[in-house]
Amino acid sequence: MSGDRSFTRGEITGALTFVVLAVAIGISSYRAGLNISGGTGGAGMTASAAPAPVNGQDLYASNCAGCHGAQAQGGVGPGLAETKAWADADFRQAVLHGQAPGGRTLSPVMPRFGDTGLGGEAPTEEQIDAIHAYVKGL
Ligand code: HEC
Repeated sequence: MSGDRSFTRGEITGALTFVVLAVAIGISSYRAGLNISGGTGGAGMTASAAPAPVNGQDLYASNCAGCHGAQAQGGVGPGLAETKAWADADFRQAVLHGQAPGGRTLSPVMPRFGDTGLGGEAPTEEQIDAIHAYVKGL
């Protein structure tokens, strides 16, 4: 019987220890949470809230390489070497609306990314410029 009771006491001690630890952990994570949303933790919040960085290489690989080639050497679509010299605004106009410099309308085979979107979303200027920068570096 006394063995049972001491076992029970042990259980109670264990349970109390667990509760105390749980509360301590709860308080410290609550404090950590307050710190993150406070002044010193601002950088952490900003980083997690900021959109993923724009990656021209990834965007090119998943949206353009299939037609223009992995190295923009050409395939279904022409090689893009000439477009390295284009102004960003001209490049955007071609990619988004199929209008090349000099009023040339590109064949409908070239998608109008302003209509189709990039990865299901309306492309941003930053994304197209990142693709242009990537192509220039090839
Ligand atoms: C379905 C195939 C296809 C895809 C995908 C595609 N293009 Fe094109 N692209 C073409 C074709 C075909 C032309 C040539 C159109 C013409 O000359 O009339 C072209 C032309 C262009 C031109 C004009 C080149 C020049 O010298 O006149 C640019 C710039 C361009 N594409 C960029 C891109 C970019 C950037 C992407 C990805 C965001 C992309 N294209 C995706 C087929 C494609």
